[in-house]
Amino acid sequence: SEIEIVNITFIDKDGQRREIKGKVGDNILYLAHRYEIPMEGACEASLACTTCHVYVKHEYLDALPEAEEKEDDLLDLAPFLKDNSRLGCQIKLTKELDGIEITLPKATRNFYVDGHTPKPH
Ligand code: FES
Repeated sequence: SEIEIVNITFIDKDGQRREIKGKVGDNILYLAHRYEIPMEGACEASLACTTCHVYVKHEYLDALPEAEEKEDDLLDLAPFLKDNSRLGCQIKLTKELDGIEITLPKATRNFYVDGHTPKPH
């Protein structure tokens, strides 16, 4: 059967680029882990931290589903937030994302959210 390849470039905090081939349906966090890209993902995609914070190349933002409210709330706690910030663990590869560039922030912080009170973990 036809394997749907999606090309993705990770750019680390030092500007080092890594080109990887993923597949439709791959979660960006787990793809990064498979290739030892330094994206932490402390809560394992359960929307309880911000350590998977990434910047999405602007031209690909519209190809992503809107962030759900919980993702937006968490992003508000992320250091170095930008207008193209998303949580990497919430991004699944689609054909439309072929060629996407994902940049890692200078640093991440691990918050566990309890009600509205951010707690350092
Ligand atoms: Fe924790 Fe993405 S890994 S929110």
